[in-house]
Amino acid sequence: MTAFKTLDDIGDVRGKVALVRVDLNLPMQDGAVTDDTRIRAAVPTILELADAGAKVLLLAHFGRPKGARSSTQSLSMVVGAVQSVLGREVMFVPEIAGDIVAQAVGILPEGGIAILENTRFWPGEEKNDPELVKAIAANADLYVNDAFSAAHRAHATTEGLAHVLPAYAGRSMQAELEALGKALDHPEKPVAAVVGGAKVSSKLDVLKHLVSKVDHLIIGGGMANTFLAANGVDVGKSLCEHDLTDTALEILANAEKSGCTVHLPYDVVVSKEFAANPPSLRICNVHEVADDEMILDVGPAAVEALADVLKTCRTLVWNGPMGAFETEPFDAATVALARTAAALTREGSLVSVAGGGDTVAALNHAGVAGDFTYISTAGGAFLEWMEGKELPGVTALRK
Ligand code: 3PG
Repeated sequence: MTAFKTLDDIGDVRGKVALVRVDLNLPMQDGAVTDDTRIRAAVPTILELADAGAKVLLLAHFGRPKGARSSTQSLSMVVGAVQSVLGREVMFVPEIAGDIVAQAVGILPEGGIAILENTRFWPGEEKNDPELVKAIAANADLYVNDAFSAAHRAHATTEGLAHVLPAYAGRSMQAELEALGKALDHPEKPVAAVVGGAKVSSKLDVLKHLVSKVDHLIIGGGMANTFLAANGVDVGKSLCEHDLTDTALEILANAEKSGCTVHLPYDVVVSKEFAANPPSLRICNVHEVADDEMILDVGPAAVEALADVLKTCRTLVWNGPMGAFETEPFDAATVALARTAAALTREGSLVSVAGGGDTVAALNHAGVAGDFTYISTAGGAFLEWMEGKELPGVTALRK
């Protein structure tokens, strides 16, 4: 039983106006969408409502225009990409409330789809202004939130609307909540978390929360250096936040108290310069890093040991790469561990959930994104979920 209403509960929507919050904050280059994952995520909800005869008004933000119109951040730019992914014609409406939207609703046939302008052009969006919420809701009959990746924002279109219209989780939101629930709220144990990336400071709350939730915490990327240094290891020229020594030690102590085993690399890939296949590249024990070397990836022996850890686990949550994966050969640990996780998932012994920033790019690079149980489309929202925070957009749907 889900704690929120889904499209299964929506009833007859023929002729009704559905405001559907999606995430069209898409990566773009020279006016073209470079990754349409988020559009594809929204397709099932949009088509289900349109095919049932609703008039679908898509609400989304793009960038951070700070409450003012900006020609370079208009959602008109993504209409073409949305049309081609949906395989349907999509109308563009340069407003989000008022007479122009009412007129568009009048013109739109049953089953028609429109994209309203960038919600962040209106200052009331980020302030969650009740007047703006009321004005947007005035043109609609119901609200569907299909933007998990924007659910950490308590904005008018991600949170406010859920209080004034009948509110439902879209299919992508539903899938995210179900998958994430299985991974951390009521997972099959043992649970492992892989947390990588450059800096401990950007994931402090994630680490603090995870040590109380998971059985194995695998730390990779630059942030592992901070933990190694806190343990007295000389990490040479490596990226390292020495000012976080006490915090790192506190996290390690809390892990021990909670029965969470923290895995830090014991062999590493080092080099004197950060470049592809540098001549000074070598693999060594963490205690043998020279003063002029930097750690750029987890070593092969540690990766093998980590693979053995994953083999004992039933659930995996992954955020962040294990090394400087964009530059060869420092992608090796990320690729190897991701492939192990993918193989265990295919065999049915592991539920694997990944998300956040670089993670999807790293798993795509390893060629295994399709083999994970679930890959979240969210960046910041995935991290806040890993921190154990309530996401306002989700809470509003659960009311
Ligand atoms: C994202 O891209 O992660 C979401 O769309 C949220 O965007 P924001 O960080 O600008 O709120």
